[in-house]
Amino acid sequence: MSRRPVFLALASAGVALAVISVPSLAVAAPGDPGAPRYSAGADGAGDPYFPLAGNGGTDVQHYDLALDYAPPAPAPAPLEGHLEAVATIDLVATQDLDRFNLDLRGLTATAVTVNGKRSAFEQSANELVVTPRPKLKTGAEARVVVSYGGTTTRPTDIEDALYGWVTTRDGAMVVSEPDGSATWYPVNDHPTDKATYTFEITVPEGLVAVANGVLTDTQTTAGTTTWSWNAPDPMAAYLSTASVGDYEIDEYVAANGTPIFDAVDPTRLGAPTADLALTSEMLVFFEGLYGPYPFVSYGAIVDDDSVGYALETQTRSFFSRNAREGTVAHELAHQWMGDHVSPERWADIWLNEGWATYSTWMWNEHRGRATANESFDDFMSTPADDPEWDFVVADPQPLGLFAGPVYDRGAATLHALRVKIGDDAFFELAQAWVARFGGATASTTDFADLAEEVSGEQLDAFFTAWVYTPEKPVDW
Ligand code: ARG
Ligand code: ZN
Repeated sequence: MSRRPVFLALASAGVALAVISVPSLAVAAPGDPGAPRYSAGADGAGDPYFPLAGNGGTDVQHYDLALDYAPPAPAPAPLEGHLEAVATIDLVATQDLDRFNLDLRGLTATAVTVNGKRSAFEQSANELVVTPRPKLKTGAEARVVVSYGGTTTRPTDIEDALYGWVTTRDGAMVVSEPDGSATWYPVNDHPTDKATYTFEITVPEGLVAVANGVLTDTQTTAGTTTWSWNAPDPMAAYLSTASVGDYEIDEYVAANGTPIFDAVDPTRLGAPTADLALTSEMLVFFEGLYGPYPFVSYGAIVDDDSVGYALETQTRSFFSRNAREGTVAHELAHQWMGDHVSPERWADIWLNEGWATYSTWMWNEHRGRATANESFDDFMSTPADDPEWDFVVADPQPLGLFAGPVYDRGAATLHALRVKIGDDAFFELAQAWVARFGGATASTTDFADLAEEVSGEQLDAFFTAWVYTPEKPVDW
């Protein structure tokens, strides 16, 4: 930490100068009051739900991931692949660092350099601890190169759902919400540290490697193909992907001008993915609600294996086996709500899932099915004594991140807010939310504050009833 907070704290406390001069000299290096004070970066970003996710003391600017991947041998060989990789990470020190962490789990680091110099490092269950020499002063830029690799398996999250680098027979499904990126690269694995990405993914010739952003190059030599991707929009780690498979590629430009790159397992072409054809019209519809599509590209990955859910991987949503209309709309809406504006803490997940679910309510109305109001009424028909209501939407707990109320009551909260403040203020709020917090993160408090600012209404009672009280809202 810098000396400034110490000075401010003492000055504002109004402590007599003679008294503070002693401790203040005691913390400075002898004869050099401006000398750096080195310490270790924290092993977490400070998120109470996932204490080891992300890290302190560093701000990653860019990840360049060179991944060399060998999928499993044909059955009955085990579903295990092999990854040999080099991660080049450009970061800035946010404190004077004699040590800092990256998250890495299940793979082994074999060498680390910082600004070209070999660094000592250690690994524990979730952490790669790097000891840079020379040490890093606050504001120093560092290029950290980590060589690593190992056997890839099928990792699971705290709910036992597949996530991270999920090995498949023909490649990998790579979906990492909330903290699964550490299963495939060294990372500050928390949404508060967004960064840009480039990827060079080398796979056996004939397979496709699909990451975020735009395809910049493919090179085939000696039986392998390297797929290069550039993802220049700041991205939370959980939204990164590098899925590998036997995919059919479809490239086109959507009606709003966004270039689309779809990768679909050939066995899923036809009915299972027919609804992807609505993407172009959906982009136009959601731009009308939320403002311009925020990223350089879009598209879908549809695999023939399944993690049991879809994910809004940035610019390239992932679908398990089927891409049905409601899910296609949900993952696309997340690009604004969740990806461009991301949760400050995982407790804020309802701002992702509530908005995405509400977006499908509005899309359904646009398509002539149930109106948003009818979807709301249907949701509110659940009796007050139903356990469904015994849930704090804005504090769902780690095992409740993807629970039903985060989605449905989250969506109903937004509809109730729309009715309360009126359509003009509600859609101004939606666009202001994206414009103000796009590229960054925001919290439930930020949302409530902005809603009050835009509507000019006092909304404490509203948010208390809808997202902070484990009961059916009756009055708001
Ligand atoms: N964010 C994803 C979606 O709503 C869901 C991810 C579910 N993840 C899980 N581990 N269950 O589209
Ligand atoms: Zn969602």
